[in-house]
Amino acid sequence: MAPRLGVNIDHVATLRQARRVPDPDPVQAAILAELGGADGITVHLRSDRRHIQDRDVEILRQVVKTRLNLEMASTQEMLKIALTAKPHQVTLVPERREELTTEGGLDVVLNSVQLKPAVKMLEEGGIHVSLFVDPDLEQVKEAHRIDAHAVEINTAAYADARDGGGREAALRRAVDAARLGRKLGLAVHAGHGLTYENVRAIAALPEISELNIGHNIVARAVLVGMERAVREMREAMRPR
Ligand code: PXP
Repeated sequence: MAPRLGVNIDHVATLRQARRVPDPDPVQAAILAELGGADGITVHLRSDRRHIQDRDVEILRQVVKTRLNLEMASTQEMLKIALTAKPHQVTLVPERREELTTEGGLDVVLNSVQLKPAVKMLEEGGIHVSLFVDPDLEQVKEAHRIDAHAVEINTAAYADARDGGGREAALRRAVDAARLGRKLGLAVHAGHGLTYENVRAIAALPEISELNIGHNIVARAVLVGMERAVREMREAMRPR
């Protein structure tokens, strides 16, 4: 069975914030993405609010009919917002102010003392927690040890590989991490850098139950519309 498709609509908000006007509205984009077959909507509320705003999260929580996945850093401010908005899922990510997009997974091993109570607080609030990690076995084990519900495996190395050999090696690391995650009882998600061209091999992995894809879908949606862009991604995820 193909994994769920979570559509990340951050870049609809990026376009809006370029002029600080009401349009395009990520809420409308979320509705169209669901009509196109999205199984969930993902937004990253960054501490600098460079794209998604608090108002978006509040409205999306009421409007999204599938599942709302809130990506965020594990800070007191964000934990408070999540526990108030109560999305279906929170994905904890590292955040650096100067980065263009999330660079690399969380270092769960190094930060477990800080992450463990955050995971507990969210899970006790009825929100499943996924940790965005590089395909590294120690990180997956630590995610399990601190009681996360899921890991999202960072597919950037796979997406950025320059040749077939590099891509094959990166895919192998993702497979090993995904298998270990499932063996430990974690739900396994994947995302970052996935495109219409490279998604199929990742979507075919039976251990993976959810993909989160943003940039490439929004890039196509600007040209062909959101519904069609999502429908085409679902098609690209199907086994040949
Ligand atoms: N998963 C995580 C944790 C992310 O931070 C991002 C980017 O916001 C994505 C998935 C989606 O990546 P992309 O925009 O490259 O599809």
